[in-house]
Amino acid sequence: MLENQISELQAAALKRIAAAHSADEIEAVRVEALGRKGALTQVSKEMGKLAPEERARVGKLLNAAKQALEQALDERKQEFDASALRAQLDAEWIDLTLPSPGPRAGSLHPITQIQMEIEDLFVSLGFMVLDGPEVETEYHNFDALNIPPEHPARDSQDTFWLTDGNLLRTHTSPVQVRGMERFSPPLRMIAPGRAFRNESVDASHEHTFYQLEGMMIDRDVSVAHLLYFMKTLLTEVFRREVTVRLRPGFFPFVEPGFELDIQCVICGGSGCAVCKHSGWVELLPCGLVNPNVLRISGIDTEKWNGFAFGLGLTRLVMMRYGIDDIRLLQSGELRFLRQF
Ligand code: PHE
Repeated sequence: MLENQISELQAAALKRIAAAHSADEIEAVRVEALGRKGALTQVSKEMGKLAPEERARVGKLLNAAKQALEQALDERKQEFDASALRAQLDAEWIDLTLPSPGPRAGSLHPITQIQMEIEDLFVSLGFMVLDGPEVETEYHNFDALNIPPEHPARDSQDTFWLTDGNLLRTHTSPVQVRGMERFSPPLRMIAPGRAFRNESVDASHEHTFYQLEGMMIDRDVSVAHLLYFMKTLLTEVFRREVTVRLRPGFFPFVEPGFELDIQCVICGGSGCAVCKHSGWVELLPCGLVNPNVLRISGIDTEKWNGFAFGLGLTRLVMMRYGIDDIRLLQSGELRFLRQF
């Protein structure tokens, strides 16, 4: 009787073990067959009623059944554990032989990019590209440009003075003087570079900014020549028609002097922080070179005259890319720079 029961329980449990789908099912079979209230455990409680020799036989059978089940349970459990481990390893697999993504490619600062474009343009028009020092003499920055010490133009170009009497140049115009000192006319030059002013910094003012100076000295240079070059320059930079206006402008080193304004490309002329809500941005001060300036540098004004301009390179970059805060340009912020 009991022997049959044991064999049946064993067979049923083995069948369930073989058909199990998970470690949890295996565990359930273990509890139901071998647990404290399990079927085989119940059987062993019945054994007390048996005669001693029968008890020994059934006991053996029971132990064998328990062992067989334990073994089958352990084997299946190991199978499930192994496949769970395999699945985990598969999920965590990485290919260490893959090449790395490599360093991120850098790019030129937008000011550098536009500076190079304009240099290419002017070189193609027969201009030299000149360089001058950022720490300038008072003579080159002011006096030789027809700005004597008591002239109010010095106040509008407040700058950083060094203890030795030199200064951080307030514009790139001193390179005009250096160009005239080094070369004799006819002369075509541009000079991109940094300029400095004692400004309080806001969305449209920086103490450090970029300009691109230009000068042409030749025979019978007129405002028409000046306008031709300025239009060529702006068409090249913006690659489309831009609205400009010419106002009289005063600079001691040009006569007549002009302010060439461009309609604000950021707001389309309706007014924003960059154009100081005027709709226009001063971009290109220019004019015919004041004969005093030529004379100071020893050029014969009977033979030669010229034009000059001082393009605001920083402002131009802001206009072209729609940058509405000048401080971004020197922020060193990579999220900003990666856009260019
Ligand atoms: N140097 C002047 C400035 O920075 C600009 C300028 C240059 C004007 C050349 C006329 C001719 O304000």
